Amino acid sequence: MGNALKILSLFIFSVAIIMGGAVNAEAKKKKKIPKKPSYVGAVKCNGSCHDAYYEAWKVSPHGNTFNLLKAGERAEAKTRVKLDPEKDYTTTPLCLRCHTTGYKQRGGFKPAGSKNKKGKDTSSTIDPEEPNKEQVGCEMCHSVAGGAQFRVVMKNTKGDFKKADTEKYGQRWDYANVCTRCHTHPNTPFKPSVHDKYKFNFEERKLKVHLAADFYNEDNMDQKLEKVKDRAKEVSQSEKTPLLIEDFEIKKGKLKFKKGTKPYNKKKKSFNYKK
Ligand code: HEC
Ligand code: HEC
Ligand code: HEC
Repeated sequence: MGNALKILSLFIFSVAIIMGGAVNAEAKKKKKIPKKPSYVGAVKCNGSCHDAYYEAWKVSPHGNTFNLLKAGERAEAKTRVKLDPEKDYTTTPLCLRCHTTGYKQRGGFKPAGSKNKKGKDTSSTIDPEEPNKEQVGCEMCHSVAGGAQFRVVMKNTKGDFKKADTEKYGQRWDYANVCTRCHTHPNTPFKPSVHDKYKFNFEERKLKVHLAADFYNEDNMDQKLEKVKDRAKEVSQSEKTPLLIEDFEIKKGKLKFKKGTKPYNKKKKSFNYKK
């Protein structure tokens, strides 16, 4: 081999190594998508991507739903529906379904007194300064069975994803439908028959969910969602055919989801849509 050729091949070889290293580093930065969906809590959406949304949620009604279950809170409203205003409902399964995040589902909220088989305390920690799974968090409206998977897709793509990319990992876009998990569900004690204020008009209420605009500042300005307008033009599967809404009952003091009403099939890893 001539000298020139030797030098050339050495050069190509080195370039290949350097490029390979760069690709590797890039791959390392990308996190692996967890195998199963699970609830991670609102705090995980805060800190680098949706800070303004989190801060707004924290002081909104949904960021304070757990607190309503405490004794003495909203006494008048409780009395009206024949609940005991002096009772503590923070461990009552019926209430936890609609006032917390992912109760009785993978990764979801666990009330005080929860233990595993070995008797170890598994209850969720509650930090009043940093509301999380104990309130109605992001995942109760944005996910089918928790955000662990699509959160990684969002991070890996730095927000440049299509609706379908996260939807296949259980993000949902059927907003009008998802509210019925709680607001118009037959098991809520707070029905329009009790008081007019419980009537649910989606278009009106939607406008009150995210008052995030006021929470953008110098530190989180770079988190403005650049792809929102593009995504708004897409029509996702769950917008075409809304997902099933879990129905549930309390049996022997425990929350049970009714058969055939779950929007996610764990075994088949598939989604169930309304017909
Ligand atoms: C099926 C879902 C569901 C269940 C079960 C449920 N809630 Fe609620 N709860 C809601 C919704 C939705 C609202 C908000 C209603 C509205 O503002 O239109 C609410 C509101 C409340 C309020 C505030 C009412 C007011 O007018 O200030 C209290 C207090 C409350 N719930 C306590 C409880 C307690 C205690 C339990 C258990 C005994 C419970 N909830 C069970 C969905 C539920
Ligand atoms: C009570 C239900 C509910 C909760 C809880 C909720 N969201 Fe939302 N979110 C919505 C609805 C509804 C929209 C669509 C609003 C619209 O179209 O005007 C939305 C829109 C968004 C968007 C814009 C998405 C896009 O591409 O258009 C982001 C980002 C978002 N939410 C983040 C969050 C985060 C982060 C949390 C938790 C801190 C959260 N949401 C909690 C209902 C909810
Ligand atoms: C997991 C249960 C749950 C889901 C899902 C849910 N909510 Fe709520 N929502 C509640 C509870 C509980 C309250 C009561 C908070 C309070 O009274 O302080 C509430 C209160 C509200 C309020 C504040 C009351 C008001 O009118 O000012 C709005 C607005 C609202 N919900 C809109 C929505 C919309 C829109 C959706 C669907 C995109 C939705 N919610 C989905 C449980 C839920």
